[in-house]
Amino acid sequence: MTEVVVTKDKDSAPAADALVVLENVNKHFGPLHVLQDIDLTIARGEVVVVIGPSGSGKSTLCRTINRLETIDSGVIRIDGKPLPAEGRDLARLRAEVGMVFQSFNLFAHKTVLQNVALGQVKVRKVPRREAEEKARQLLDRVGVGNQADKYPAQLSGGQQQRVAIARALAMDPKVMLFDEPTSALDPEMINEVLEVMQQLARDGMTMVVVTHEMGFARSAANRVLFMADGRIVEQATPEQFFTAPKSDRAKDFLSKILHH
Ligand SMILES: Nc1ncnc2c1ncn2[C@@H]1O[C@H](COP(=O)(O)OP(=O)(O)O)[C@@H](O)[C@H]1O
Ligand SMILES: [Mg+2]
Repeated sequence: MTEVVVTKDKDSAPAADALVVLENVNKHFGPLHVLQDIDLTIARGEVVVVIGPSGSGKSTLCRTINRLETIDSGVIRIDGKPLPAEGRDLARLRAEVGMVFQSFNLFAHKTVLQNVALGQVKVRKVPRREAEEKARQLLDRVGVGNQADKYPAQLSGGQQQRVAIARALAMDPKVMLFDEPTSALDPEMINEVLEVMQQLARDGMTMVVVTHEMGFARSAANRVLFMADGRIVEQATPEQFFTAPKSDRAKDFLSKILHH
């Protein structure tokens, strides 16, 4: 089982095509050093899966990339531009980085269509008619076009998460961050969300995905990052990582998630 569905080759991506760059990034929560000297370059079109034990800093890493969390030192650049501190530039930057959370975070009192159209109208100043047209296309793309006029609570978890993905895509993000997007779903709904993500990967979206779905990592990731205690302990192709992890931490972690 060595076939990899996604055939992009990260080694062939020139350094100039770096889309997300973290240099020597450090982050503390009080006495806790949650990101320790993180150096990471993600190429345009690359799919990076981040795995590691609970508390290792995976969510914090994602949240710093779209500036939901500040950093204490180091630099983060998106497409060559350092993350702005605040204000209008920050709102624009956030729109360039799509984020999908474990808990779908849809507006309960707005329809599915409104949820997907809203950001375009508010942040991008797109006319409502145009925003709704695009929202319908995106809802079709993630397979929930027929749910457009319902409210989130009327949808299954898998459908809601696909709406959340459509909402993020509506902003034309340069990179999509997924933080355990299937962890809150009933098992029978996990695949419908992973399939949408697989398709995005095939379409060339740059993606950072925190997940324990090893099947997804094997088939969609160009690179697996293993984090522990706020550090990137190991990184490799999925094939290398899953068949021959190098560090004891990674071996221990894999034995727990693969043989439970
Ligand atoms: N807002 C916060 N305030 C204080 N500590 C936090 C906060 N967010 C996360 N942490 C701590 O930082 C560490 C890393 O958390 P997190 O990035 O959520 O890890 P992971 O996503 O890998 O489980 C954990 O010890 C967590 O308890
Ligand atoms: Mg987390």
